[in-house]
Amino acid sequence: MTSNSNKGLAGVVVGQTAISTVESAGNGLFYRGYSISDLAEHASFEEVAYLLIHGELPNKKQLSDYKSKLQSMRGLPTTLKRVLEELPDSANPMDVLSTGCSVLGILEPETDHGMATEIANRLIASFGSMLLYWHHFNKSGTPIDTVTDDDSVAGQFLHLLHGHAPDELERRALDVSLILYAEHEFNASTFVARVTTSTLSDVYSAICSAIGTLRGPLHGGANEAAMQLISRFNNADDAEQGIREMLARKELIMGFGHRVYRQGDPRSPIIKSWSKKLASAHGDETLFKISERIEQVMTQEKKLFPNLDFYSASTYHYCGIPDALFTPLFVISRTSGWAAHIMEQREDNRLIRPSAEYIGPAQRPYPSEGTR
Ligand code: COA
Repeated sequence: MTSNSNKGLAGVVVGQTAISTVESAGNGLFYRGYSISDLAEHASFEEVAYLLIHGELPNKKQLSDYKSKLQSMRGLPTTLKRVLEELPDSANPMDVLSTGCSVLGILEPETDHGMATEIANRLIASFGSMLLYWHHFNKSGTPIDTVTDDDSVAGQFLHLLHGHAPDELERRALDVSLILYAEHEFNASTFVARVTTSTLSDVYSAICSAIGTLRGPLHGGANEAAMQLISRFNNADDAEQGIREMLARKELIMGFGHRVYRQGDPRSPIIKSWSKKLASAHGDETLFKISERIEQVMTQEKKLFPNLDFYSASTYHYCGIPDALFTPLFVISRTSGWAAHIMEQREDNRLIRPSAEYIGPAQRPYPSEGTR
């Protein structure tokens, strides 16, 4: 028996997890018991990825070994590069990543479940390489070397994108954003990764399923949609008027609201503070002020708060990242959370196959010849 109150599985507990929890009041987020604000302040993305995948924070040696391991996994096989070279400029970069993931799954297949951690690390290390190899080849026809000496995923991404070692403020802003995006309990893409895993499929297939799910604007695609929204306006007054008009037309304002959080997204103030820092470092606060005014209008008019995607948009923009690469950055980060869930699902697996309440026509005879 189901009803519309469960529509979208809202509030339905569909399984157990030891990976992360959203505090019951809906205003805190913890990865394996550590608060997201402590992690964003003190940890690096690599530390958080290790925590999610291995269950505990690394010590200094483990962290340095882990960073070296990821660095050593940035290269792309020649066949994968050839495939990326053939993908057109019109390709959605999320499709580039799922294609890359699928091709890597053919070239470096998961032949036994003991390989899951290595595959997760390989994907975390090489998704940025795939994306930016395709990006540059497409724009200039130049094949780039994806192995850089940066010791962080954020550093390698910005280095490959801009062609030079990253500015430290921008690198750390991106690093923090990767921490915030890394894990989020049974969100839609993670749930899909667990469903695929529950059929005893491989890690690559589970991650391809998750990428397809993350792409939609109600999920990961919201950061790009938020950027398209804020870049429509020239200044804060313009934005206020535009948002009021959109609300009057009952349009969705991307980057606001959340299925689980009811009082505020605990990740939003953290990424907002980075957007503000970058705005003042760049000497141009226009985008930040537009974003803040939209936040004020949404609080006043709808009591809706910005989610992580809203201020991620201006943060990424200030780092010089093209809009179309925003959601793929989410993939690079969330692969750590997806991998942790894939491994957790495997530890105590049962096929995920819910039931439906049938609301179609009653049983009826097949029409006899000549009556149609
Ligand atoms: N802009 C305008 N109105 C919004 C809104 C938004 N961003 N988010 C929710 N609402 C409205 C809904 O339309 C609904 O109004 P109604 O009761 O008149 O129909 C009401 O607020 C309650 O929404 P709710 O049903 O609780 O949302 P949900 O849990 O089904 O969906 C989201 C959650 C995230 C999908 C939804 O808030 C949304 O679409 N946000 C924009 C996309 C986004 O930022 N996604 C990233 C999520 S991290």
